[in-house]
Amino acid sequence: MSRSSPPTSDFSKVKQQQKDAWESGDLGMFSKTIVLVSELLCEAVDLRSNQKVLDVAAGTGNTAIAAARRWCDVTAVDFVQGLLEQARRRAEVEAFSISVAQGDAENLPFKDSSFDVVLSTFGSMFAPNQERTAVELLRVCRPGGKVGMTNFPPDSFAGEFFRAMARHAPPPRGIKPSVLWGLEDRLHDLFGAGASSIDLRRRTFFFRYASPQHWLDVFRTYFGPVRSAFQTLDTARAERLSTQLLNVVGHFNQATDGTVVAPCDYVEIVVLKRT
Ligand SMILES: C[S@@+](CC[C@H](N)C(=O)[O-])C[C@H]1O[C@@H](n2cnc3c(N)ncnc32)[C@H](O)[C@@H]1O
Repeated sequence: MSRSSPPTSDFSKVKQQQKDAWESGDLGMFSKTIVLVSELLCEAVDLRSNQKVLDVAAGTGNTAIAAARRWCDVTAVDFVQGLLEQARRRAEVEAFSISVAQGDAENLPFKDSSFDVVLSTFGSMFAPNQERTAVELLRVCRPGGKVGMTNFPPDSFAGEFFRAMARHAPPPRGIKPSVLWGLEDRLHDLFGAGASSIDLRRRTFFFRYASPQHWLDVFRTYFGPVRSAFQTLDTARAERLSTQLLNVVGHFNQATDGTVVAPCDYVEIVVLKRT
């Protein structure tokens, strides 16, 4: 989310910028408010105890821990080591042990067919090389196993939020919008050849905050990509971005008591890998 525009194919530079952004702030402050998404995804893929499960772009471990609560043998992978440490500590608090591995969603550090189920909640969708990421998610899943994802579609709160962010901190040229992962046709392009079925379900979680300003403060303080974007802007531009983000919240907010109750739609996907 930097204003500089690296060449189209320079994914390693893009990824370093993204990694730096995700490292800043404290993603956990946001992630703990959307635990519900991970719990529902674990139900959607119908996890069975003792299955080997990989959580890709796991962050602070919402989905890894949801799988551990179903007695699965869980590994969490993310390119930010500090977030994985938080994931491990959170699991320990619940007396679960999960394995963690630092790694890139586009080049997963596991052998083919290592896992029964591969999951990713609002994570792999941010890797710049979408085709490569889809290949990797399927590669490490065993034939007949499942890949479960949650992704934001373009016509969601998150889609509007990303567009507002991009106006002030444009993504590098040549990077496909992450919200394409929320479209059925695109998912068939990405997974079609390796899948025997792809099931999609549109779901909603709600942002519930004390006020629109509280929502903005939390994102600006803790959510790495937003925090980093604000740090690149002068005062006037930062003011304009704040106003636009508050407009996004205002557009979706259903509460009339001064708080925020804003629906954020997402797509829950279950891919069955071809045998
Ligand atoms: C919105 S957070 C979601 C975290 C977690 N899955 C959750 O549901 O709370 C996005 C995560 O994707 C990770 N990520 C983004 N691009 C990645 C990549 N190419 N490889 C590995 N992790 C990546 C970030 O470090 C961050 O933890």
